[in-house]
Amino acid sequence: INDTVRLNNGLEMPLHGFGVYLITDEDKGRAAIRQALGSGYRAFDTAEFYKNEALLGTLLKESEVPRNELFITTKIDNPLQGYDSTLRAIERSLKDLQLEQIDLILVHWPSKKHFFETWRAFEKLYDEKLVKAIGVSNFEVHHLEQLAARANVKPAVDQMEIHPYFTQSALRDYLRANDIAAEAWSPLGRGAVLSDATISRIAEKYGKSPAQVIIRWHLQSGTIVIPKSQTPSRIKQNTEVYDFVLTEDELKEIDALDRKDGRNGPVPDEVFEEN
Ligand code: A2P
Repeated sequence: INDTVRLNNGLEMPLHGFGVYLITDEDKGRAAIRQALGSGYRAFDTAEFYKNEALLGTLLKESEVPRNELFITTKIDNPLQGYDSTLRAIERSLKDLQLEQIDLILVHWPSKKHFFETWRAFEKLYDEKLVKAIGVSNFEVHHLEQLAARANVKPAVDQMEIHPYFTQSALRDYLRANDIAAEAWSPLGRGAVLSDATISRIAEKYGKSPAQVIIRWHLQSGTIVIPKSQTPSRIKQNTEVYDFVLTEDELKEIDALDRKDGRNGPVPDEVFEEN
């Protein structure tokens, strides 16, 4: 859980963090975040859209974990994109998270209308050192190329749906070639991949769970992974992935599970047109 990836601006980012999407219930959320901290998680991935920045901020403060051990990511919500509204929204995220600086902020989805305004605001926040790195989420190659044509600061990270049924190999090749780190949301494929026969066979061989095998596949592929769970035993289990190593053949076998219809989430271009 201490492995890091060096982003293109030199910042070290943990390769393995905890995702807090869908954690909205106060009591369950408190238990989950406390369990995550207790299991060793130091990187947390939230978003304005998740409505739990304030809860996360309170629990991080209460935990007394030193700030320099934490790595906090949040995202600008689609309806708040645009120059002024982004600046205001990130100010509020800073306040809710009780931080002086956010480690990484992401544009949650590409938006046709606010494409460069949001990014200009991110560049300003970066220049003012209110954030340590800026990146995007759900950007495909053509969105990244549009951004690259006018950006002063290159995105450090692209966070997208990646799991064994939706491996995004072409996009990941592009990110690798352009020194942008790939980060996976819904890394377990919303549970569907957990009952896959190939994953189960590999899991049995190592005496691990399917979720642990999938997390290992992400880590060994160099993908930043942020599994989420509201179940304390699973939160702990998802950190216990450092006592086995998948072979090259097993990694390739999992790569080959990719399916044409493997996407679970929204299509980025549809969101792009709507926003
Ligand atoms: P729960 O929160 O009830 O524990 P993804 O991140 O791919 O969208 O998947 C998240 C889902 O996977 C959640 O519904 C979560 O359920 C479940 N999950 C997380 N970790 C595990 C695990 N170790 N074993 C089984 N299911 C898991």
